[in-house]
Amino acid sequence: MANGVGVYNTATVSDAKGAIITDLDGRQLIDFAGGIGVVNAGHCPEPVVEAIREQAGKYIHTSFNVVTYEPYITLCEELAEILPHGKKTKAMLISTGAEAVENAIKIARQATQRPAVLCFTDAYHGRTLMAMSLTSKVNYKFSSGPFAPEVYRIPFPNFYKYHRTRDMEEFVESELQRLYDSQHNLVDIKSVAAIIIEPIQGEGGFNPAPLKYLQGLRKFCDEHGVILIMDEIQSGFCRTGHWASWQHYGVQPDLSTYAKSLGSGLPIAAVVGQADIMDAAAPGTIGGTYIGSPICCVAASATIKFMKDNNLNERALHIGKIIRDRMEKLKAEFSGIGDVRGIGAMIGIEFVKNSNPEHPNSELCDHIVKGCADEGLILLSAGTFKNVIRILSPLVITDEQLNQGLDILEGQIRKFN
Ligand SMILES: Cc1ncc(COP(=O)(O)O)c(C=O)c1O
Repeated sequence: MANGVGVYNTATVSDAKGAIITDLDGRQLIDFAGGIGVVNAGHCPEPVVEAIREQAGKYIHTSFNVVTYEPYITLCEELAEILPHGKKTKAMLISTGAEAVENAIKIARQATQRPAVLCFTDAYHGRTLMAMSLTSKVNYKFSSGPFAPEVYRIPFPNFYKYHRTRDMEEFVESELQRLYDSQHNLVDIKSVAAIIIEPIQGEGGFNPAPLKYLQGLRKFCDEHGVILIMDEIQSGFCRTGHWASWQHYGVQPDLSTYAKSLGSGLPIAAVVGQADIMDAAAPGTIGGTYIGSPICCVAASATIKFMKDNNLNERALHIGKIIRDRMEKLKAEFSGIGDVRGIGAMIGIEFVKNSNPEHPNSELCDHIVKGCADEGLILLSAGTFKNVIRILSPLVITDEQLNQGLDILEGQIRKFN
């Protein structure tokens, strides 16, 4: 196995159900990582497993480009219904998040006939060429250039880290000023096809963009004919208490990207957007052999139904409140916890030195993550400096399992603080 394949936890799975992973030694682990935000509906939800089994017995692959099939159309209709983008919405399917990002950029370029793309610091959009070029963290792209051209980056409005003494209003005003200045000091706005943003950054440390910033960004895009793409690959499918976090903000993108929890672990991704923009891409320019595999399509449709039937959007708000209340109490006790933040059940806990947002404490975060693994809790860190613990537990986790996991986390935070 190549060294470049990272491994975060040394457990080897035997089976997984709900929020519990059982390893080959029979040890039960509480899963707060959810396969990196993929199993919001839990490990192996029964109706999803059943849909996969049934579809596998009918047909596995024809390639939608060659012989079409209904599960693709059904899923696109369902996506358009739960994620409406203006008057008429269309969708296209692919297999991974990075592919969704690649295709969203291609659609935006064809729709605007412009080449440039604006993105943000601490962004994560995947590891294929365009996606990697849009990704901010240098560690993910080390020695992998040359990168895609016509990609320009501006600072993400990270209020916690950079507000210093300013209040939210003042901070947002100055960040929006940077955005407006970018047309003079960074790139001619007439050559910008799209701005891509995660409304709440995932890999970058669970940083929510301020509402007023997103509203200002929307206005800026409208003023300049720029397509606004929101990447909801980590934040989508009930994580924030909505199908997409932009619905929490009430700021609608032109195009948006989804993957991860859409398929409960099967590789399926989507670009969803305003019909006229989606239709600007010429036939054959967006696609591939495995676009929307039928097995993945039925898994996604069954996942959406399962999420609706089990009210997972509401459940996310409940879970998020439990996590936040407990972590806020700890923050009041320990100067090592700089911030507890997030939307719905997408909660991050940032570790810093001496309560200073500009001094990340990655060592402390690493000790806690490893200590939790030893105690049977699977956790992931995040952030450019790996100093944020991100909680991505399945949303079917019981209150008891959630509190058990939080007990372990709290124990480790107490131990290492
Ligand atoms: C916001 C965001 N965009 C894109 C991606 C890339 O998705 P994938 O790993 O499926 O290519 C990820 C994966 O973590 C992500 O969090």
